[in-house]
Amino acid sequence: MRIESPRYTERFGSVRINEVQKVLELDSGRGKALPLNENIAVQKIEEDIIKDIEEEMAIVIPIKNEKLKLFEGVISGIPHDCLLIVVSNSRRKRVDRFRMEKDTLNQFCHFTHRQALIFHQKDPILAQALNEAGYTDLIGEDGLVRSGKAEGMIAATFIAMAANKKYVGFVDADNYFPGAVWEYVRCFTAGFSMAKSPYAMVRIQWRYKPKASAGMFFKKWGRVSQITNRCINSLISNKTGFETEIIKTGNAGEHAMSLKLAEMLCYASGYAVEPQELISVFEGFGGTLPMGHQAVAKHGVDIFQIETRNPHLHEEKGLEHLKNEMLLPGIGTIYHSPLCDETTKKIILTELLHADAIKAGEEPPKPRISAPLKNINLQKFRDVMAEHLSSYSALEEK
Ligand code: GDD
Ligand code: MG
Repeated sequence: MRIESPRYTERFGSVRINEVQKVLELDSGRGKALPLNENIAVQKIEEDIIKDIEEEMAIVIPIKNEKLKLFEGVISGIPHDCLLIVVSNSRRKRVDRFRMEKDTLNQFCHFTHRQALIFHQKDPILAQALNEAGYTDLIGEDGLVRSGKAEGMIAATFIAMAANKKYVGFVDADNYFPGAVWEYVRCFTAGFSMAKSPYAMVRIQWRYKPKASAGMFFKKWGRVSQITNRCINSLISNKTGFETEIIKTGNAGEHAMSLKLAEMLCYASGYAVEPQELISVFEGFGGTLPMGHQAVAKHGVDIFQIETRNPHLHEEKGLEHLKNEMLLPGIGTIYHSPLCDETTKKIILTELLHADAIKAGEEPPKPRISAPLKNINLQKFRDVMAEHLSSYSALEEK
């Protein structure tokens, strides 16, 4: 593929935040030597490099009661060489939706000769594996893993770690365009191929997010994203003393990390996970709080934001979901960060009041934060999960 080079990079301590880079060509042809005057503002990522990275990558698909047709389309868009990990929190009573997801995945793997794993977030064995491995932050009062997109993502990331992958990427299950899914994964690999540090993150920005209200309108920004980006940029500006608009992907659900970086970060629950990942990087490696880890500080952290060609069309989940599950907890993670200054706090409170998400005098609730993933005893986790996963996952075609 052909993509803009990182033309502008802002630094926040040892974190390098690259401006949004656009995809120029989804397929840039066979590898050929570049003419000497080739524009260095553009990079060609060779297919071999893309494939090498895909082989080292697990793609996690969190799913909760989505239409099977959409799920089927999404898995068809994940490049063949990636390890597919599906973490489901779908209904099991009356109609067993998890069973249906498993059957769909199984059939897909059977005909495409590929590897995949699927597990239910509420599986007691998962909770047992986490307990035995000493990572209890995901466990709720009922002794099972709590509900929430982040909780599923974290559990699946442990599986990617146990499978010795180098990268993990996340793709939602409710996407209408398999071609968009395919492009996200190529963008992940493009980002990792450009990274200077083994600690890297790639976040997707959609070119358009169409709305089907009155005809098709190709909208670029969602309201929640606009607010989240503004608040994160305000936090960075107030720390560095230079106003910036560098962050365009505060809520990017489609994103990927090197596992080396993923292991270092703390995670917020539910849909607050994506803004918190950035906050966690800034807290750990932004240089204003004690450095999280010397090795990371030495290499730095690379953050890429890549704008896709495909528009993003997914299921609409309603305004209450946007307000109470995404906006409020999402910018709550910024508000409660020790990095957050008074100006940014004021902006957050004003936005939340304006959106009717809090009342005057209230603050956003403190996020529930899980410990860094490296705290797990991976061998113990692997021991409990390995046998169980292979007994019911779609792995016949190994
Ligand atoms: N395993 C699991 N457990 N999956 C879940 C859960 C859960 O408790 N809750 C939701 N999911 C799955 C959904 O089925 C979907 O595949 C994905 O997580 C995202 O959830 P949506 O409900 O579709 O979220 P959204 O579309 O409003 O927001 C998405 O995009 C935002 C902007 O990029 C999410 O990915 C957000 O996290 C993201 O910020
Ligand atoms: Mg969605």
